[in-house]
Amino acid sequence: MPEHSLSLQSLAPEKLPRHVAIILDGNGRWATSRGLPRIEGHRKGAERLLDLFEFFLSLNIPYLSLYVFSTENWKRPRHEIDALFQLLSFFIDENLKILKKNRIRMIVSGDISPLPAAIQNKLNGAIVETAKDYLLTVNLCLNYGSRAEILRAAKDAILFIQKGQTGQDLTDRIESISESQFEQYLYTKDLPDVDLLIRTAGEQRLSNYLLWQSAYAELFFTPVLWPDFSNDDMFQALLDYQRRIRKFGSI
Ligand code: IPE
Ligand code: IPE
Ligand code: MG
Repeated sequence: MPEHSLSLQSLAPEKLPRHVAIILDGNGRWATSRGLPRIEGHRKGAERLLDLFEFFLSLNIPYLSLYVFSTENWKRPRHEIDALFQLLSFFIDENLKILKKNRIRMIVSGDISPLPAAIQNKLNGAIVETAKDYLLTVNLCLNYGSRAEILRAAKDAILFIQKGQTGQDLTDRIESISESQFEQYLYTKDLPDVDLLIRTAGEQRLSNYLLWQSAYAELFFTPVLWPDFSNDDMFQALLDYQRRIRKFGSI
């Protein structure tokens, strides 16, 4: 019997989230508590990902966003930053074929231009190679921060309007920008809003993650450290989500 087939029976397919976003936290603590270097926690955390992708595919959940590196993570020691990028590079090398075979699309949110050129090329290659024929979109949030994203979107929206060739007054045109037009300038323009936002490792904060997109997300916090976060833990988060009543401001 396939793993999870029993427990899947209690998940209602019509009440599953479409977009799950995860702040994968606790890799460092996982390693330190075992007397290992922090990067071992990151390595162990990355090993979890394919299994998680398969779980999402089995449930037909189409969008998964992962917080991989924040705009604030540049404050970490250089050797840890380098090791994280190295790990990302290994991950793509090892798994690109599997991603394609399993119809998993990779996209990136964030400004990757400060990343090493070799990693940028690898990321861009993986994005192009997985762009067609997919069932699951994995959105890697890399050098991502919501404030930078929203500020960039505001600037781009205004610049675009300034360039427009219409007779209408510039102020009127800026005033007329709608929320859905503004969203077209966010990295996540092709993704639906976040339905379920999960943070592991006991922290109960958003750390500058998908603030616009999670305006009405259900939040799930768990003490489990990311490298220990199993598909059963994911299942529990989904069960919990299904018990919530989403009101979006109505009664
Ligand atoms: C999260 O784990 C992964 C990244 C930020 C890349 P941490 O490295 O933040 O782990 P802790 O919070 O120090 O345990
Ligand atoms: C958030 O985790 C960023 C990622 C998971 C990539 P952090 O561990 O960096 O966040 P803070 O510093 O505890 O808020
Ligand atoms: Mg952390």
